Parts: sequence; C-alpha cells; structure tokens
Amino acid sequence: MILHRVLPIAKRLISERVQPGETVVDATAGNGNDTLFLAELVGDTGHVIAFDIQPQALKTTHSHLGNLADRASLILDSHANVRNYVHGEIGGAMFNLGYLPYSDDQSIITTPDSTIAALDALLGLLKKSGIITITVYDGHEGGSEERDALLAYVHSLHQGDVHAIRYELLNQRRNPPFLIGLEKMKDFTEVRKVECE
Ligand SMILES: C[S@@+](CC[C@H](N)C(=O)[O-])C[C@H]1O[C@@H](n2cnc3c(N)ncnc32)[C@H](O)[C@@H]1O
Repeated sequence: MILHRVLPIAKRLISERVQPGETVVDATAGNGNDTLFLAELVGDTGHVIAFDIQPQALKTTHSHLGNLADRASLILDSHANVRNYVHGEIGGAMFNLGYLPYSDDQSIITTPDSTIAALDALLGLLKKSGIITITVYDGHEGGSEERDALLAYVHSLHQGDVHAIRYELLNQRRNPPFLIGLEKMKDFTEVRKVECE
C-alpha cells in the first residue's frame, strides 16, 4: 500500500465498497469534486445525493458534473436533515469538512452539531460493510472545536457496530487534513454509544 495523501485514500476506501447502481451521499458538495467522483463510481443506474448550505457551491457542483448531472440530486440544505431526503439504504458517504475553497466568505464552515447529527443519521442508513469517510481540516477558526467534538463522537461509537480508523501523514507542513473512516459492521438503524473515560 502506498502512503498517499488523505483524499486519494478516502476515494480508495469508498471505491472498494460502493457498487454501481447504489445511492451514495456527498455530505459537503463544495466545488463538486467528490460529487463527480461519486457520480462516476455509481454509474448510470446509481445516484448521488449531495448537500451544501451555499447556493454558490451547488451551482459550481452542477457545472462540475457536466453530462453526469442527472446522476445527482443537489440539495440546498444542511446535511443534518439528510433523513428528510434519503429514505433507503446508502452504499457510502463522504464528508470534506471546513469552508468552501475559493469562496469570498470563508467564515461559513461545517459545525460540530450538524456534522455529528448527519453522521448519526447516515450510519443508520448505511449498508452493512459500507464506509463513510470524513476529511478533517482543523487549521481554520472553529476547526479545532469541530475536530475535538468529532473525535469524541467517534470514540463513543460501539465497536461492535462501527470500526473507526484515523489516517494522517505526520510530517506535512501547514495543517494538512486527516481522514476518519467509519465501517458499519452490522445492521442497525440507531447508533449505539458507549461511555468514554
Ligand atoms: C471543504 S468544502 C467541501 C469540498 C468539496 N467536497 C469539494 O469536492 O470541493 C465544505 C463545504 O461544506 C459546506 N457546508 C457547511 N456546513 C454544511 C452543512 N451543515 N450541510 C452541508 N454542507 C455544509 C460548506 O458550504 C462548504 O461548501
């Protein structure tokens, strides 16, 4: 295994589990890079449901998708409300936390409450052996609070239900992201938590 940077590893984890024809979620569409990757992965019988709270992000995502636009539903709402839009099983989901790159307003960021609410809902919807990837940036204002809340949440997940990994390159400069991967180990609809010391 080559020690790639975080984004190629996230894509590899997702590619190994998502099957053509499945429904998948991009929880943070942004500029649409992950939405396009997922649309290619699920093929013309699959579907991507992509969320963002910024109209500009969904506009960019739509043009990024080009002739694959009909494989995606772009939802202008918080990923915390995912259960209002996704009713059946999903094959996988991707999060890329933080602010919209190249945006004029980089104060609009993902926040702990909505990220964790979305994860709770998506773990319930995920197929058994499906994977959720979360790319975590903590260098911006608010980033360390989200990182800490997210790690506490991940540590609280019952190990019989979810296996959780953290992947990061340790000798990179300028606050590189790290990756959290969650694998669903058995069927459940509600996430079980354990007490952390
Ligand atoms: C780092 S960017 C995502 C980059 C994207 N994956 C790409 O390929 O370009 C994070 C995005 O999350 C969005 N976001 C922030 N809070 C959100 C929420 N509650 N629900 C959905 N998206 C949110 C931001 O507007 C921003 O566009």
